[in-house]
Amino acid sequence: MQLIIDTEHNLALWAADRYERLLAEVPEAVLGLATGSSPLRVYDELAARVAAGTMSFASARAFTLDEYVGLPAGHPGSYRRVIDEDFARRVDFADGAVQGPDGTASDLSEAAAEYERRIVSAGGIDLQILGIGTNGHIAFNEPGSSVHSRTRVEVLSEQTRTDNARFFGGDIDAVPTRCLTQGIGTILEAREIILLAIGANKASAVAAMVEGAPSERVPATALRSHPRVTVLADAAAAAAL
Ligand code: GLP
Repeated sequence: MQLIIDTEHNLALWAADRYERLLAEVPEAVLGLATGSSPLRVYDELAARVAAGTMSFASARAFTLDEYVGLPAGHPGSYRRVIDEDFARRVDFADGAVQGPDGTASDLSEAAAEYERRIVSAGGIDLQILGIGTNGHIAFNEPGSSVHSRTRVEVLSEQTRTDNARFFGGDIDAVPTRCLTQGIGTILEAREIILLAIGANKASAVAAMVEGAPSERVPATALRSHPRVTVLADAAAAAAL
C-alpha cells in the first residue's frame, strides 16, 4: 500500500495524471467510479482536462460501486444520478458506458449477480477509485463484511446513514436502510485502486486502514492484501498515523 500525503488539490492532480496515463495507454479502459465528496476534486480536474482536449473517456467504460435500494431513478440522492451530475455528464463517455447496480430491481439478488457478470464480461476493472467511510467502510461494505463478499444487498449502519443524511436534507429517516454494493472481493479484483481520504473525520479510519491489524471490523484493511493500492490523504485525514 503506497501512501501519499498532500493537499487535496495536489492529490487530485496526482489521481488525474494516473487516469490520463491509463487512458493514453488503454483508451477502452474499464473504470470503477465512487460517489461521495472524496473524489469530487479529481472529477473536477478530469472534467477540466476533457474540456481542454487533453484527455478523453469516449472509448472507456465505467461501473459505479453501489446504490441505495428503493430510490426511484432520478431521485437526487440516488448514486446513479449523483455520479452523472458529479462526473459522467461532465466528460465525454459514450451513451450507456457508465453502469451502476439497479437498486429498483424487484429481484435484488439477481440484480447483484447480474452486475457482477457485467463487470466480468467487460474484462474487470482497470482502475478503481474509492473513498472511505468514517467507520472504515469501502463502497457500502459495512464493518463485518467478508473479504470474500461479492455484490449484494447490504443493510446500512446507523453511522453511515447519519453520515449520509446530509445528502437527504439532513433527515436520517429519509436515508434508505439498504443498498446494493460491490463486495470487498469484487473490489479487490480491480487491477489498481486509488483511495482518497480527505478531512479530519477520516483520520481514525485511515489510521486503522494503514496501521491497524487487518480485520473485518475495518473493511478498508482488506486493501492491504492488494498489490496495487495508493492511498491519497490530506494532512487532516493522515493526522492519526
Ligand atoms: C459513502 C459511499 C462510499 C464513500 C463513503 C465516503 O457511504 N458509499 O462509497 O466512499 O461513503 O463518502 P465521502 O467521500 O462523502 O466522505
